[in-house]
Amino acid sequence: MKKAMVSALLCAASLGLGMVGCSSGEKKVQQAVPKVGVSLPTQREERWVRDKVKMEQVCRDIGLELVLKVADNDAQRQDKQCDSLVAQGAKVLIVAPQDGKAAASIVEKAHKAGAKVIAYDRMILGADVDLYVSFDNVKVGELQGEALSKLAPKGVYVVLSGSPDDNNAAQFRAGAMKVLQPLIDKKDITVVLDQAIQDWSPAEAQKTMTAVLAAHKNKIDAVLAPNDGIAGACIAALEAQNLAGKVPVTGQDADLAAAQRIVKGTQSMTVYKNTRKLGAVAVQAALAMAMGQPVAMINGKVNNGKVDVPAILCDPIAVDKGNLDSALISSDYLKKEDVYK
Ligand code: BGC
Repeated sequence: MKKAMVSALLCAASLGLGMVGCSSGEKKVQQAVPKVGVSLPTQREERWVRDKVKMEQVCRDIGLELVLKVADNDAQRQDKQCDSLVAQGAKVLIVAPQDGKAAASIVEKAHKAGAKVIAYDRMILGADVDLYVSFDNVKVGELQGEALSKLAPKGVYVVLSGSPDDNNAAQFRAGAMKVLQPLIDKKDITVVLDQAIQDWSPAEAQKTMTAVLAAHKNKIDAVLAPNDGIAGACIAALEAQNLAGKVPVTGQDADLAAAQRIVKGTQSMTVYKNTRKLGAVAVQAALAMAMGQPVAMINGKVNNGKVDVPAILCDPIAVDKGNLDSALISSDYLKKEDVYK
């Protein structure tokens, strides 16, 4: 959305806290600028850095005031940070919850204070969430399951999933299992370990992978890794056994390190979710909501255990060696000189 357009919208509405000068012909009039609060769970995975940078840039471009906090994987800290965002006058909160269930209280408190809440990337469960902006997360898992089962149609599988308090982790796993379960039922695939990794911790994933390799005398044929952080950790464990590149490993996020591993041949694939687009879409939706305007781009509804939440869902794209350049480099998500360094 262009700055001029937003200014026009701002000039038409009376909102939020700060004031902005809107020119009306020669005359300058004072207008309210809506304040948006953003709460992200972490900056550990590179993708969350991209979301942050994009949101900040779009807010700057369109003249929205943004206050952004990072919870460092701590649900209680996130709850307090959101209280403070609302206290600072945020009219809309964009929240990527650390803990999908615990974050219901963030929604309740925000609503009491008259603010709206967008669940960002991760769903907030059991609450009257106003909007969900994310990807088709079941599809993410399906893409992982499809890629892995093509590379290893039979054999011994390690199935890792993300943090149990992150609703996405269950969605990704469910998507992958849509593909893998029939092969498990046919006994083509044997799952020797099916484990969630708390907080998506690469360190825990590496320990887990090292232990399962030892327990099965390195006889592992495929690893379902739910994101690139965990994939990198599993590949490090495989490397220690001279198995990197010999055992297919999935991923997600299109991290630079993952793209480099794909080029090197140690990671089979990643799932590209354009988090820049997601960040921009969320900010635009927040602006509309703050101004009492209808939100454009809604293309679905997702039930969160309490209500059907109107949703804007973007498409994930599977990336392997074959389409890495066209998907990630031509789109300017990653730089050629970094990937092929
Ligand atoms: C996100 C992934 C991310 C993971 C760990 C998930 O909810 O969808 O993109 O890798 O959290 O931060």
